[in-house]
Amino acid sequence: MCGIVGYVGDKEAAGILIDGLKRLEYRGYDSAGLAVVQPKGIKVVKKRGKVGILDESLKKAKLKGGTGCSHTRWATHGIPSKENAHPHLSCDGKIAVVHNGIIENFHALRDSLIKEGHKFRSQTDTEVIVHLIEKFYRGDLGIATRRALKLVRGAYAIAVVSSNEPGRLIGARCDSPLVVGIGKGENFLASDAPAILAYTKKVIYLGNFEIVSLTKDSVKVTDLSGKEIPKETSRITWDAEQAKKSGYPHFMLKEIFEQPQVLRGILDERLKKARVSFQELKISGAELKKFKQIAIVACGTAYHAGFTGKYILEEKLRVPVWVDTSSEFRYRGPIVGKSTLVIVISQSGETADTLAGLREAKARGAKVLAICNVLGSSIAREADGVIYTHAGPEIAVASTKAYTAQMAILYLLAIYLGKLRNVISSKDAEKLVVQFKETVAAMRLLLGRYKKKRNTIATYAKAFRSYYLKHKEKGFFLYLGRNINYPNALEGALKLKEISYISAEGYPAGEMKHGPIALIDENPWVVAIATRSRVYEKMVSNIEEIKARGGIVIAIVTDGDKEIERQGVNYVIEVPVVEEFFSPLLVVVPLQLFAYYMAREFGYDIDQPRNLAKSVTVE
Ligand code: F6R
Repeated sequence: MCGIVGYVGDKEAAGILIDGLKRLEYRGYDSAGLAVVQPKGIKVVKKRGKVGILDESLKKAKLKGGTGCSHTRWATHGIPSKENAHPHLSCDGKIAVVHNGIIENFHALRDSLIKEGHKFRSQTDTEVIVHLIEKFYRGDLGIATRRALKLVRGAYAIAVVSSNEPGRLIGARCDSPLVVGIGKGENFLASDAPAILAYTKKVIYLGNFEIVSLTKDSVKVTDLSGKEIPKETSRITWDAEQAKKSGYPHFMLKEIFEQPQVLRGILDERLKKARVSFQELKISGAELKKFKQIAIVACGTAYHAGFTGKYILEEKLRVPVWVDTSSEFRYRGPIVGKSTLVIVISQSGETADTLAGLREAKARGAKVLAICNVLGSSIAREADGVIYTHAGPEIAVASTKAYTAQMAILYLLAIYLGKLRNVISSKDAEKLVVQFKETVAAMRLLLGRYKKKRNTIATYAKAFRSYYLKHKEKGFFLYLGRNINYPNALEGALKLKEISYISAEGYPAGEMKHGPIALIDENPWVVAIATRSRVYEKMVSNIEEIKARGGIVIAIVTDGDKEIERQGVNYVIEVPVVEEFFSPLLVVVPLQLFAYYMAREFGYDIDQPRNLAKSVTVE
């Protein structure tokens, strides 16, 4: 939530800062701003609304200078407005700060700074940081920032510049992400690597309570007491091209279509014939053999991947697996310990609740394995072991390829642990790998059907919109699934509500009779996952019950299924035949596409839905 960028070098900072913000806009888009140190002092430009609006206004501003910082905001304290947009300035206008995170003790700090004569111009928590730095400034921006941060409680990633020290950029972090980009004659700060990929792939990941002082030619990392910390540089494997739309109208559509390639990449990387290897996993085989239960902890879409993981792991390992949303897990005194393997799943690796869940699990003596997409992220670094999904940058706020990549890792983990614990034979592992590969091929085939300009899913979205407008906005959605595809029903509903703003709930189809069936008249549209499986007939009966009460049904079925059509379903989406165990990877694709086309049909901002941000670094 919120994205920050910093630059120091010989180039004009403004262009680089705005370019970085455009690539970080998925982190928040309520307002945006930037500060550039100019020969005559700091110039700040900020606007309410998206980065594009700021960019437009910069055409007139003519900012000249090689040091600066910028910010795109997801509002927490203070409404989205120009006043509350970052950067924030010190009273004398000589120091500018951008911040991602929440300062928990800002009320107390603000009150005492006001008593000391500081004038506040916004309602944000952030503004206390710049006034504190001003208070402690005695000619060294690094020392003043360190002193200020010692008084601050909460989460922060900050970038600081001052007209007193024009060629210097300070960064610091605690629980909000910040990477340092190392260039030639220039250096960078960013919340996330895609912001600086076009300029450098050499990065340093800052740790908590670390502060970096950058000039164009030097990088020095210290702790808050000023002690120098030696840091390793890492190379980012993503390239700038991956963070572009590459001809697709939206990142979401691009990312949906990338899925077969992402899964293929995972298989190629992790498999030697049927032997699964996770090179970066630091938890030993002996430890992995010992645990007696698995707890999966995650939020949102990652939680749904974890929920599918429960079915996957329980079926193959025959150990109890429970799944929890991170925000519940962390506060309820979870019963985990030495005999529990806790798996945390997070695309960004920065989700505040998941990070807190990880810490809670470790404190209780459990081993924590993270499944993450972003290299060097907080969750990846703090876990005992990590498996990266290597899905490439996911830019659309609505998660798609990260979801299937997370599930793919869970499938491979089931094979890996199954062999390790002698519950899966080599022959069975080989068979599973073949079925997995067939599923990826089926996904490619399925997506090929939707490459055409007019496709059935887009037509169904159109049909719903007409219905919705004709019936005075009465339609809403129920997503039904059973067994291993029940989590996909939750995921389909989540995708629809987050980008189409239409009410949608996911249920296990067997639960309908226990309450939700009371909702059925002609208003709800029911998306029923009814592919061939051990629960197929049960699903057919559920569909019959809905049709008997006037509901409108979109059924996802296996190619060539005529049985479902006989139930009088209104719309059918066919998917190729795959093994039931792997079917969640395939079934989610039409659900993602349906949500996408619905949002397009209603004309919404697909990649940046309202009120959301990609990386939820606040509780
Ligand atoms: C939904 C979505 C969110 C995230 C959730 C967790 O499309 O993107 O529900 O899945 O905020 O984020 P990560 O995986 O970064 O921890």
